[in-house]
Amino acid sequence: MNKIRSIVAASLALTVGLMSCDSGDMRRTPGHIYAPDMTYSRAYDAYTSNPNFKDGQTSRKPVAGTIARGHEMPDHLTEGDTTAYKNLTTALRFQDADLAEGKRLFNIYCGICHGTNLDGQGPLYNSGKFASMPANLKDAKYLHMPAGQMYAAIKFGKNMMGSYAAQLDIKQRWMVIAYIKKIQSENGGDAYTYGATAEAAPVAAAETAAPATPEAAAPAHH
Ligand code: HEC
Repeated sequence: MNKIRSIVAASLALTVGLMSCDSGDMRRTPGHIYAPDMTYSRAYDAYTSNPNFKDGQTSRKPVAGTIARGHEMPDHLTEGDTTAYKNLTTALRFQDADLAEGKRLFNIYCGICHGTNLDGQGPLYNSGKFASMPANLKDAKYLHMPAGQMYAAIKFGKNMMGSYAAQLDIKQRWMVIAYIKKIQSENGGDAYTYGATAEAAPVAAAETAAPATPEAAAPAHH
């Protein structure tokens, strides 16, 4: 027993001794470098200065007037312009898979307050830790709300509700709204109009119908 005690005491003393050897100095240099190109990037890193551009910055903004591939047109809404909110709509139409994605996004970002039933009884509100009653999207007050007004709530937030513009891109916002409008249409709201309709079909067909020959696709050169 004594032997064990002295071993424990000795190892404790050793640990404390070793720890006190650490002077707290931090080494800032990597010492010898085997492959300098890997240690120091030859490319300009984001947020570093860059002599190649007039403003001296490496991070570039998108070229003015361009839209990244796969992204929607900007909405041009400004905060507080409620007339513009109400008139804003989308030409996007959604398939079942898009609605399922809208539901998934709603449950991630909105359900905690608005409830996965859209009835305003989300777990955060029900816990009593969130003071403001989230909109009950099945209530008459919201059943006929213009989709653009919902869009504005997502983009700018509304009173106690924050903005979700950073989490949802434009198409995702509309997917969420389409999902809400679909559920609302089944609960006394307006008829659902965001589905892929018959008139949308010919457009889709024209887009997918590839020309039979390359000549048919290329403009005539003679
Ligand atoms: C942290 C809680 C919370 C989250 C998360 C949240 N909301 Fe809200 N939302 C609220 C509250 C509270 C209101 C009521 C605001 C008011 O009228 O004062 C509201 C209101 C709304 C309204 C009505 C807007 C209006 O003009 O009256 C819509 C539509 C809405 N939310 C949609 C969403 C969607 C879509 C999401 C997810 C992207 C979301 N909310 C996420 C709390 C939340």
